[in-house]
Amino acid sequence: MKYFIVTFGCAANQADSERAAAYYQARGDTKAKSVEDADVVIVNTCMIRESAAHRVYGLIHNLKNKKIVVTGCMVGMAVREKSGNMLRELRKKLPTVSEFLPIAEVGFDYEPIRSDKKHAFVPITNGCNNFCTYCVVPFTRGRETSRPFEDILRECKGYARVTLIGQNVNSYGSDLKNPPAGEAGNTIKPTYVKHLGRLRIPTLFPALLEKVGEIKGLRSVDFISSNPWDFSDDLIRVIAGNKKISRHIHLPVQSGDNTVLKRMNRWYTREEYIALVGKLRKEIPGVTISTDIIVGFCGETKKQFENTVRLAKEVGFTKAYISIYSDRPMTAAHKVYKDSVPHAEKKRRWNILEVLINKTNLQNGTYE
Ligand code: 5AD
Ligand code: SF4
Repeated sequence: MKYFIVTFGCAANQADSERAAAYYQARGDTKAKSVEDADVVIVNTCMIRESAAHRVYGLIHNLKNKKIVVTGCMVGMAVREKSGNMLRELRKKLPTVSEFLPIAEVGFDYEPIRSDKKHAFVPITNGCNNFCTYCVVPFTRGRETSRPFEDILRECKGYARVTLIGQNVNSYGSDLKNPPAGEAGNTIKPTYVKHLGRLRIPTLFPALLEKVGEIKGLRSVDFISSNPWDFSDDLIRVIAGNKKISRHIHLPVQSGDNTVLKRMNRWYTREEYIALVGKLRKEIPGVTISTDIIVGFCGETKKQFENTVRLAKEVGFTKAYISIYSDRPMTAAHKVYKDSVPHAEKKRRWNILEVLINKTNLQNGTYE
């Protein structure tokens, strides 16, 4: 059989698709050149916003005379939901789909098949424990699990460029039972970070990044994404000390207003975020910062939005991925808050930040 994989969503999904390709190859299937040429189409789904989910449904409805396999976040969420209603609903909504494949079944045992031989996206964690109130990821991908230290190092070898990926790379390793052994029998020491403002957790991310940065032949390494609240001094020291580590950091802020941040369950204030940026600029000369922002979160007032605009001006992001808030099933915001900002007002706020940060010329009709 000839297979073709269509991938929606983030870098984590792209990396999952590379392992799904290996999974199909291992079963004797070969890669088709296009959707048209394929016998089986695997759709790796995203549902971070409603618009992403609509694109997925649109594609599947247009696939005719193909065996369709659906994997990714929609399936992850449906199989995790205990009553089974969500999976039944998904089957009903997508009657032409012959198989729902949880990506966990593909696992990490397959050597990923990458189209890019020089650059690798290497997952270091999967899932998330943070439960930001707007976000489906803890439900679609489940709780955070870290891959073994040595497996990651092995996978990074042989590439010129590596991007380490995780929903929050900064907490990598906090769930690993056996700390990895360093050279000469020295156990690698974790860094303790304040997590969610309450607990201190051990993270191995600074140690991991340091080791990846030492791989011979590797020219550059970067990582996505970092939560501002557990970005440790150790991590800053590691980045500052090795020029192979990217001088560009993606640091999602989501909002510049303290009340909104609290309601999003983000464990930092605008002042702490700005202080962290200041520290990064001081310790890592030439560092540039990009971010994610959500506009029109439940109850966000004009004044609160203006605080995000002020923060953006103060920080000077090189790029921002700006999203219009989208109510998602299962999330705390969906259960507790009201999606109260009208769509036209969300769009107005989106435009303001898009022009300010990304210098988009909206006269050309570029929207969202
Ligand atoms: N609505 C809008 N944007 C969202 N994001 C996550 N959940 C939502 C949502 N419900 C954005 C956040 C996150 C990025 C990956 O997607 O900004 O950082
Ligand atoms: Fe979602 Fe927050 Fe986890 Fe990021 S840190 S994946 S926004 S819950």
